Amino acid sequence: MYGGGYIFEEPNRVQQREEQLHDDPEKLAAFEMRIAKGEKIEPGDWMPAEYRRQLIRLIEQHAHSEIIGALPEGTWITRAPGFKRKLALIAKVQDEIGHGQLLYNAAETLGKSREAMINDLLSGKSKYSNVFNYPAETWADVTVIGFLIDAAAIVNQVANAKGSYGPYCRALDRICYEESFHLKQGHDAFIELATGTPGQKAMLQDALNRWWQPIMHFFGPPDKVSGHSEKLMQWKVKMASNDDMRNQFLEAYVPKIRELGLTLPDPLLNKNEETGRWEYSDPDWDLFFEVIKGNGPCNKERLDVRKWAEEHGRWIRKALMKEEAFGKKAMPVA
Ligand SMILES: [Fe+2]
Ligand SMILES: [Fe+2]
Repeated sequence: MYGGGYIFEEPNRVQQREEQLHDDPEKLAAFEMRIAKGEKIEPGDWMPAEYRRQLIRLIEQHAHSEIIGALPEGTWITRAPGFKRKLALIAKVQDEIGHGQLLYNAAETLGKSREAMINDLLSGKSKYSNVFNYPAETWADVTVIGFLIDAAAIVNQVANAKGSYGPYCRALDRICYEESFHLKQGHDAFIELATGTPGQKAMLQDALNRWWQPIMHFFGPPDKVSGHSEKLMQWKVKMASNDDMRNQFLEAYVPKIRELGLTLPDPLLNKNEETGRWEYSDPDWDLFFEVIKGNGPCNKERLDVRKWAEEHGRWIRKALMKEEAFGKKAMPVA
């Protein structure tokens, strides 16, 4: 998982900030020329303050989404049905935490410390993807996450991997390899339930019904509502509009779901053959913003786990930093 492409910020805020900027016009022009030519921007290069700020926000939210995203699936490791599924789930959850690690590293190259990022996550100042604030009630929920949420994330991450900031793109290239394995295992588990007993299929259908709206929310509000795309797209921070990514996802995965005899809980969901675009009922965007603000069904539970981990891991971080301060090469083992 899990990079929601949507950068959470009030509409028009970016516009206002752009007007406040006093970047050197010559440097700005040279910077924009490099991006237009497809060059990557590296940590030591000159960059506009707003570019740096938006990238920190994007990569940080992505990193938080990886580590929070591991939690709903993590609760199923002990209950996964069978050894094969358990092994795959352990590996996947471990990968997601690793993705968080890579992404925090990438964000740190822009000047925000990991400690500051974690503090902002725990205080609620920094956001993460909406989809991880829902409970994984059954094994079918885990298969829906593994198949469809990883699929949605891949759409987003493959696009972002072609962006302009070198460390983020390189982290995403590596992450995308692992995500494709996640998708395969999710699809495999999904097919197993869809073609299993009537009870298994009903359980999957129920999970699909519950997860469909959060998945539609995942790519962010429609372009007409999301007011900060133009400059971010010119700077290749944002690589595709929310609606385009949602459309790409629907095009690739709705047929796969329907061919398994499952339905989706939206009577308007249909491809318009004339425009080539998918049409659907507008998901409840007020609900989306409530979840992002911290009022979803599991926001508190998710952050409580992270707070617990932060608190109980403090002694390890302290010990490691002490070792660093003394310049020792190895920890004493006895
Ligand atoms: Fe994943
Ligand atoms: Fe991931």
